[in-house]
Amino acid sequence: MERDTTEPCVEDLPGERARAQVAYHHATAAPSTYVYEFVWDYTAPADGPFCTDIDGNVLLDFTSHVGAAPLGYNNPDLRSRLAAFDLVDPLKIAGQDFYAASGPPGDAPIPGAADLMDRLTEVTDGMDTVFLSNSGAEAVENAIKICYDHTSGEYAVTFHGAFHGRTLGALSLNRSKSVYRREFPEISGVHDVPFCTDRSCDATTCGCGFFTDDGSQLRRMLDPETGFVPPEETAYVVVEPVQGEGGYRFPSDAFASELAEVVETHDLLLVADEIQSGMGRTGEFWASDHYPFDPDVVAAGKGLRVGATIASENVFPDETSRLSSTWGGGDVLACAQGALTIDVIREQNLLDNARERGAQFHETMADETLPGVVDVRGRGLMLAVEFDTEARRDDTMAAALERGLLTLGCGHKTLRILPPLDATAREIELGCSLLGEAVRAV
Ligand SMILES: Cc1ncc(COP(=O)(O)O)c(C=O)c1O
Repeated sequence: MERDTTEPCVEDLPGERARAQVAYHHATAAPSTYVYEFVWDYTAPADGPFCTDIDGNVLLDFTSHVGAAPLGYNNPDLRSRLAAFDLVDPLKIAGQDFYAASGPPGDAPIPGAADLMDRLTEVTDGMDTVFLSNSGAEAVENAIKICYDHTSGEYAVTFHGAFHGRTLGALSLNRSKSVYRREFPEISGVHDVPFCTDRSCDATTCGCGFFTDDGSQLRRMLDPETGFVPPEETAYVVVEPVQGEGGYRFPSDAFASELAEVVETHDLLLVADEIQSGMGRTGEFWASDHYPFDPDVVAAGKGLRVGATIASENVFPDETSRLSSTWGGGDVLACAQGALTIDVIREQNLLDNARERGAQFHETMADETLPGVVDVRGRGLMLAVEFDTEARRDDTMAAALERGLLTLGCGHKTLRILPPLDATAREIELGCSLLGEAVRAV
């Protein structure tokens, strides 16, 4: 497969083999787990955003595995670095449990957990300490645990539309679809306020209900005199700098400034959930880097291949075993992949590329006349198209897939587009053209 010339080519999707594979998967998978009908053939050619499914269809994948594969398929740089790792040695795949594997610092043949943590502190301003875990939800769990521990507070604030994962602690912070939370027990004391729905609003034009005559609902809720959540008993405010599952919602400057001001006024810990928006997706390493608020704790995952809770050392508990995990940080291979992914993003200036290709997407879509499209938004390569109805969004995703373009839904009427961070101009043009065709066909 030649990345520079490949075009998507779909015969039948889902094809016979994909349908059989999905049925086989469902035979043992918990019934409520969602499985895409696209079945990637990892033995077949794949390069950048192009992959082949098990029926031989060639697809342009603009989902990057929900952001978990920021470098797309078979990134040559990542592959050649990982190939240097001889997986045959069982010590190298034994995992790292409680061992500080893979040293000595700086000249380990393959980067391990310590290297990954070191890289993460390099890309995260003012933070010097990391706890590794197995998933995004665990990164959030540990983020809020350290905040409860650090402050002894019993209250917390989250935002309407939020999604932070599916473990019990993390789901208590969720305010997106009811399916995630309904009837599950929750941690108490979590209050919510509206999240910005209009990225260009200010306090006077805001339509989401966040702003009020006397400031904002957040400010009002935490007012020591008249509010109902005592700031000195509040452990944290948790925010997705850009809401993912909730509909790719980008906060306005006014919203971001008000959040920054309120957490500063009350000296509250701010947790940024960067699991979807981080790792360069928006053209900065963390999406928070675009905004005036400074998180005290960052939760990351997906493209890292492990979960990571990042903060200053003083926010973490000192007591041994207060935080721990047998498989925290996965195995050496997972840590290596996370660390090398960060290296490739930095060495290949993929933040710049994400910004440039994102701008290209906007310019190209602005030239299209797209019936039923009510908004095209995004930062870097965290992109979204919102439709007038859910049905039109769903039909457009299906029509795009028929043309070989893989996309994802989010929110209720929005389609998300996450090309790999090294997407080329040709690939963005191709994706826009297939998307435009799909919209018009619907
Ligand atoms: C913003 C956000 N937080 C948390 C999670 C949970 O991550 P994981 O699925 O790795 O547990 C996700 C997953 O999509 C996410 O988008």
